[in-house]
Amino acid sequence: MQALEHNLTPVLAPEQIQARVAELAAEISRDFQGREVVLLGILKGAFIFMSDLARRMEVPVKVDFVRLASYGDSSQSSGQIVMTKAHELDLAGRTVVVVEDIVDTGLTLNWLMDHLRRQAPQDLKICALIDKPERREAQIEVDYVGFQIPRGFLVGYGLDYNECYRCLPGIYEVNL
Ligand code: IMP
Repeated sequence: MQALEHNLTPVLAPEQIQARVAELAAEISRDFQGREVVLLGILKGAFIFMSDLARRMEVPVKVDFVRLASYGDSSQSSGQIVMTKAHELDLAGRTVVVVEDIVDTGLTLNWLMDHLRRQAPQDLKICALIDKPERREAQIEVDYVGFQIPRGFLVGYGLDYNECYRCLPGIYEVNL
């Protein structure tokens, strides 16, 4: 059990998340029937979403991860991105679905998509659990969106505030 130091307001219940993840997996599986899909998770936030999504997929799946760091404070991306852990699979000619926890400014994904396009995958899609458009700076087309949540700092189901709350089964807004 984690010590809850902040006032957390429930935003998405665990059952709601699980139902939506199942729908996303079905949709992606339908779109890539007969193909093998590489799910490429962005650490650390996507680790729980990715594991649930992967287990619901109905086509063969391989998994890989990247870890990206952005300079600036931990709650907002600066756009200056470095890849601190690269993917290990060869993505050339593959069907790649990038799995992200939350798209906020879009700067992180913008950088990653540029990098991945240069690996020459056959298909390159984005699946994000949460699209939070309020602070969007980069034009990003998210192919599969779990939930649109307009604003707020969210934790749980992989999302953290100072590394806390990642393992909560639901998603909450932190009242900072
Ligand atoms: P951006 O789209 O480049 O601004 O950054 C997205 C990343 O910022 C996400 O993958 C999260 O790691 C982090 N982030 C943005 N908004 C939130 C939030 O509400 N809660 C937790 N992490 C967030």
